[in-house]
Amino acid sequence: MELSGRTALVTGAGGGIGRAIVTTLAAAGAHVLAFDRDLGAVEKLADAVGAACEPVGVDLADASALRAAAQSAIARRGRVDVLVNNAGVLSPHKLAATTLEEWRGLMAVNLDAALLLTQAVVPAMKEAGWGRLVNIASYAWKSGGLTAGTAYSVSKAALVGLTYSSARELAPAGITANAIAPAYVVSPMIMEQLSEEDRQRQLAAIPVGRFCEPEEVAHAVRFLASPLSGFMTGTVIDMNGGLQFG
Ligand SMILES: NC(=O)c1ccc[n+]([C@@H]2O[C@H](COP(=O)([O-])OP(=O)(O)OC[C@H]3O[C@@H](n4cnc5c(N)ncnc54)[C@H](O)[C@@H]3O)[C@@H](O)[C@H]2O)c1
Repeated sequence: MELSGRTALVTGAGGGIGRAIVTTLAAAGAHVLAFDRDLGAVEKLADAVGAACEPVGVDLADASALRAAAQSAIARRGRVDVLVNNAGVLSPHKLAATTLEEWRGLMAVNLDAALLLTQAVVPAMKEAGWGRLVNIASYAWKSGGLTAGTAYSVSKAALVGLTYSSARELAPAGITANAIAPAYVVSPMIMEQLSEEDRQRQLAAIPVGRFCEPEEVAHAVRFLASPLSGFMTGTVIDMNGGLQFG
């Protein structure tokens, strides 16, 4: 139980990947604050996981509500040891179809919320001399987006930038910052928002011959959260089934 006594905060906890991350971190001994705007989804998750999962309903796009939820969680738990910025929204819109309104709405969730939560948890991590920041980016950060649109790809590239910047600044304080860049994980984001034609085309291009399972992403999060991963910071773990060689 390498995360016994640790508190983790996972955003987008009610989604496909988020549920697997919460379940995996709780199984590793962590107390997990499960943040999602869909309170019903995280309450259902807490029913399944048990007392180690604490559901929190909050809209990440609402900066003041997010700050308040984070501060109240930190006040209750003392500190957050592991922050997993997992929540994300997808848009398929490329350059011409990207409105400023959509861009800003997407950045608020995919990027701004990660900054605000990092700012909220880092002071107590510094005091403790230990912390783990894990940002769920996407293969789109470097592919430019195969099926994903402009705002989404840019948000994930910027999230990798936040990871690098945090890693450099916080390494002396015992805090690591890493990202995971998955492609095509079996979740509502892919199974419901991608056309059947796109799904089949991408499946054919993945050398491993299947999509990624949420539990595989969660396993990488657990690895990065481990006390034994302290020498690993400022990295991006690729999880794309060999797609990048295609
Ligand atoms: N599924 C994939 O193929 C894939 C690939 C690469 C990266 N990712 C990334 O993985 C992460 C998780 O994706 P997923 O596939 O589990 O998606 P999902 O759509 O299943 O889950 C996303 C969760 O985020 C929550 N959320 C969205 N906007 C929110 C807001 N404003 N406030 C609070 N919660 C909000 C949703 O309620 C949902 O529970 C995302 O960052 C996504 O970009 C996914």
